Amino acid sequence: MKALVARALAKRVQDGDVIGLGSGSTAEMAIDQIGQRVKDEKLSIAGVPTSVRTAIIAAEAGIDVRHPVPRLAIDWAFDGADEVDPNFDMIKGRGAAMLTEKIISKRAKRFVVIVSEDKIVKKLGELFPVPVEVIPEALPLVEDGLRALGATEIQLRSATQKYGPVITEHKNLILDTKFENIVPELEGEINKLVGVVESGLFTNCNQEVLLAKSDGVWSQKLINGVLQEELLEAPE
Ligand code: A5P
Repeated sequence: MKALVARALAKRVQDGDVIGLGSGSTAEMAIDQIGQRVKDEKLSIAGVPTSVRTAIIAAEAGIDVRHPVPRLAIDWAFDGADEVDPNFDMIKGRGAAMLTEKIISKRAKRFVVIVSEDKIVKKLGELFPVPVEVIPEALPLVEDGLRALGATEIQLRSATQKYGPVITEHKNLILDTKFENIVPELEGEINKLVGVVESGLFTNCNQEVLLAKSDGVWSQKLINGVLQEELLEAPE
C-alpha cells in the first residue's frame, strides 16, 4: 500500500521542482521513487528535507538537497501521517520530526499527504497520542499545562538505542499526550503553553491527501468541506 501511494506521488514530480521532503517510511519510499525518475529521466530536482535521515536518503537518491534555513520558494511538499480524520486534520510525529515537517508544510505552496488506508480514523487520537515537543527546562510546566487542557495520559518519549529520553533534532524532548477529545482549537492551545515548541497536531492544512486503498490510489481534496475524489491508479 505504501509503495503504491509513493509511486503515485513520484509521478507528480516535474523537472525543475523544488520539493519539501517529508520523513517516515512512506516518505522514504516516495523519495526512492523520485530518485529513480531523477536517474532514468535525468530530472533536476531540489529537495528541502524535514529531517537528517531524509536529507541523507534524498542525497543518495540523486536529489539536490537544499538547506532548510535560506529563503527558497518550495513549489510543493509531501509527507506521511500517523492519523488523518474526515476533516483532514492529522496527527504526525511518530518519527519525532514534526517540528520541521510542519515548518516545511507551511512554507510550501502546496502540501500533499501520502497515506495508506490504515491511517484513516474517525476521530483523532484513536491510534496515537499527540506528540508535543518541549524545551527540556519547561517539562513540568508543560505537563501541568497539558493536563489543564484535558490530557489524560502523558509519557516522556524514551529512546530505544540510547539511555533516557528521545532528544529531537532541535535538542528538545517529546511528551506523547493522550486526549479524550481532540478539537482543532487544541493545536493553538497547546502551542500557547510556555516551553512548547510545536505539536504533532496538524489542523486546517488545506492539503491534498493521496490515499492507497484496496481499490486503488485516490486523490482526495476537501473543497468547502465537501470531499472530492479522483482515482489516480487502479489496482494492477
Ligand atoms: C515523522 O515524524 C512522522 O510525522 C511521519 O510523517 C509519520 O509518522 C508517518 O510515518 P510512516 O510513513 O512511517 O507511517
